[in-house]
Amino acid sequence: MAHRFDVLVIGGGVIGLSVAWRAAGRGLRVAVADPAPASGASHAAAGMLAPVSEVTYTEEPLLRLGLASLQRWPAFAAELAEASGHDLDYRTDGTLDVAFGSDDLAALDDLAAFVDKLGLPAERLTGRECRRLEPMLAPAVRGGMLAGGDAWVDPRRVTRALLAALERAGGALLRSRVAEVLTASDAVTGVRLATGETVGADRVVLAAGAWSGNLAGLPPEALPPVRPVKGQIMRLRSPAPVLRRCVRGAVHGSNVYLVPRGDGEVVLGATQEEMGFDTRVTAGGLWELLRDARELVPGVTELEVADVVAGLRPGTPDNLPLVGPASVPGLWLATGHHRGGVLLAPLTADLCWGEADRELSTICSPLRFRERP
Ligand code: GLY
Repeated sequence: MAHRFDVLVIGGGVIGLSVAWRAAGRGLRVAVADPAPASGASHAAAGMLAPVSEVTYTEEPLLRLGLASLQRWPAFAAELAEASGHDLDYRTDGTLDVAFGSDDLAALDDLAAFVDKLGLPAERLTGRECRRLEPMLAPAVRGGMLAGGDAWVDPRRVTRALLAALERAGGALLRSRVAEVLTASDAVTGVRLATGETVGADRVVLAAGAWSGNLAGLPPEALPPVRPVKGQIMRLRSPAPVLRRCVRGAVHGSNVYLVPRGDGEVVLGATQEEMGFDTRVTAGGLWELLRDARELVPGVTELEVADVVAGLRPGTPDNLPLVGPASVPGLWLATGHHRGGVLLAPLTADLCWGEADRELSTICSPLRFRERP
């Protein structure tokens, strides 16, 4: 083997880089292999850290993971900002969930009752109270719920910071695709890069997002059951801040969110499409976002379009991530984060390095699909 590391992470998105940075902080020799780091789902993500406002009835285990990771975000952000010298645009002003139609208001009432039953911090608001918090909201907004503990961050800044912090901590970045995972006596021993170079590692962490299920060299049963779930977003530029906090809204059952950045930009997201590995930005996708966003914040149509992007979320059969040892010795998974990669990054790194509760590890265990009949 030309090079040898304690840990080789396949995938340089927010998950892979977080796992690698935390490994480097523990004194491990670590490398990340990715031909284009930070260009996949992390590049398209809006960065909502919103387990409370995004909670759904059937997903209480996901809520537990989200809350555990949200709790880690203040220290993670502070340490990362310090280690990299970068500002992450990490903000903690909460998420405002708003309802447009009477059908949306009824759904919001149900959600607020559920959130209350779970004892989560959220406040039910009238339409007028919503507009007092966010004056740019349309008069037609009928009511809302403020999840004051939710936060958000700029994922592009986070991945730039992680790359800088990883380098400062002595981690290596191998700008190549992994062609094959190498095994000996049924255990993973390293990888062969597309350049032909082989790299040895005691532990290989598969954090390749939506591509994690397509790796050569592993037995089919060791490959994670992830599928790409396309999301299109639009970034709009504004000379002055349009919103003070994240706004999530339902417009006749169709969901949209608007995430403000410190520099005045607003991110509109996101479509949710099962289109395989298609990353085309479509007129229909953008129309859907603008149609719904305009109902909630009419002023968005005045803003300049800065960027449109489509990313692929790594979906799993139960919407929960796969983090932990795989069925092949030497292989760990850190993938399948679906809509929550940015939120779950600090927890994922802790799960990989033994710093999270056993209950959370069990929820994320990659072996759970094998164990089910
Ligand atoms: N976390 C929001 C999304 O995936 O669209």
